Amino acid sequence: MYFNAVPDLFTGFKNNTPMKTNTRTNTKKTAKKIAVKTRRPAKTVKSSKESLEDIFEDMLKDIYWAENHLAKALPKLAKASYNEELQNAFETHHKETLAQISRLEQCFALLEMKPQGKKCPAMQGLVEEGQEAISEHDAGHARDAALIAAAQKAEHYEISTYGSLRTIATVLGRVQCAELLEATKDEEAETDEKLTRIADKINKWASEGED
Ligand SMILES: [Fe+2]
Repeated sequence: MYFNAVPDLFTGFKNNTPMKTNTRTNTKKTAKKIAVKTRRPAKTVKSSKESLEDIFEDMLKDIYWAENHLAKALPKLAKASYNEELQNAFETHHKETLAQISRLEQCFALLEMKPQGKKCPAMQGLVEEGQEAISEHDAGHARDAALIAAAQKAEHYEISTYGSLRTIATVLGRVQCAELLEATKDEEAETDEKLTRIADKINKWASEGED
């Protein structure tokens, strides 16, 4: 009796009987795992060229959505412009944007794809910045400066997207697509430069407190 009360040096008074394992449950779980594994279809490995084609198509859908979204916002930016030159610039770019959308549709046709957009959170955010400028400031040179800043961010997004798309189209041998994308990229760059020229004047007037 005395010796039974002495704790085991390693386990104390705890019952050191090994934990019972529920072999039935474990077997079930293993069987389930195997079943899941066998149901999964064999993974098809795409070549890097196939992946690049997927990326190209995905980026086309992204910019198609972005252009359509911007096309809806540009008339609002034009309407909110205090300066007439800026208003004209936004109106001109609205027309250009509609032409850019049709260039993208030509691209889709060349790829034998239906024109399809994929939501572009980047352009959505950039357009929101323009809307914020309208709602947070009164009409005037300062607000025009904010409108230009928001528009130029959108232009830069487009320039970089079209540049990447043009490069990918070229390496994939999509020569006609590459030409269409290059034309739009150049147009976006011209718009950006035009906005910079207008901003030079507008920012100066705003800083000098001119009406
Ligand atoms: Fe555009």
